[in-house]
Amino acid sequence: MPDGFKTAMRSIGGVVGKKIFGPHRTYSALKDISFTLREGEMLGVIGKNGSGKSTLMQCMAGIFRPTSGVVRSKINPFLLAGVGTGYSASLTGKENLMLYGSMLGLTEERVNELMPEMVEFSELESFIDEPMKTYSSGMKARLGITGLASFKPDVLLIDEVLGVGDPTFKEKSQKLIMDMIENASTVMMASQSFNLLKKMCDRIIMLEKGEIVALGDPSDVIDVFHGRKDPSEVSPEKRDECE
Ligand SMILES: Nc1ncnc2c1ncn2[C@@H]1O[C@H](COP(=O)(O)OP(=O)(O)O)[C@@H](O)[C@H]1O
Ligand SMILES: [Mg+2]
Repeated sequence: MPDGFKTAMRSIGGVVGKKIFGPHRTYSALKDISFTLREGEMLGVIGKNGSGKSTLMQCMAGIFRPTSGVVRSKINPFLLAGVGTGYSASLTGKENLMLYGSMLGLTEERVNELMPEMVEFSELESFIDEPMKTYSSGMKARLGITGLASFKPDVLLIDEVLGVGDPTFKEKSQKLIMDMIENASTVMMASQSFNLLKKMCDRIIMLEKGEIVALGDPSDVIDVFHGRKDPSEVSPEKRDECE
């Protein structure tokens, strides 16, 4: 990747995403993660359930703050999460759209201007003024996709969202997501659809128990996941040099 090609950069170092289970137990959801999401690339994220994919994306979106290490970025990315984790449960759908718009640098005036078409697109009708904790996961996904369609972010983080939602909304949302992936300059996507990732991604990161096991060529990293290749052959460094 050419030098200076990193205007959209997120890098994480150290221990991140420590989560508290009870009064005396803590659990580090991510450990010693270090990589750069480069401008213009499509980066895939794979790993078994609980390996830390969603936590990583939430750290990058600024929803979780790492307990150690840093996330650096020149612009705010938009997180589209299958279960709507990017949004605040006590705020209404409208308030969440307002929040996301402002995180992406849009003025309140501009978000208000977009609001009528967003409400219509979301098909959420009266639920748009209810707190998000009353939403089903399909409804949360609709709200996320609505934000995505209206705000057209340059950096897009997608967490296992392809295939969620009810059938009527699914077709509309999948087409939109694919268009957005093509148009967004930079995309990071966690998915179990390895064939899709292999086709679309420039690189893939594989996580295991919160650590990067492999980082590099999509086919190679998928081979590591399936035990066909040793991680040391694929990416001995397991990390990028972060600036
Ligand atoms: N809110 C939470 N509180 C405590 N532990 C959590 C929470 N969310 C996730 N975890 C734990 O953090 C680890 C990583 O989870 P997650 O990032 O959701 O993984 P993935 O998206 O790869 O399935 C898992 O062990 C999970 O149990
Ligand atoms: Mg997840």
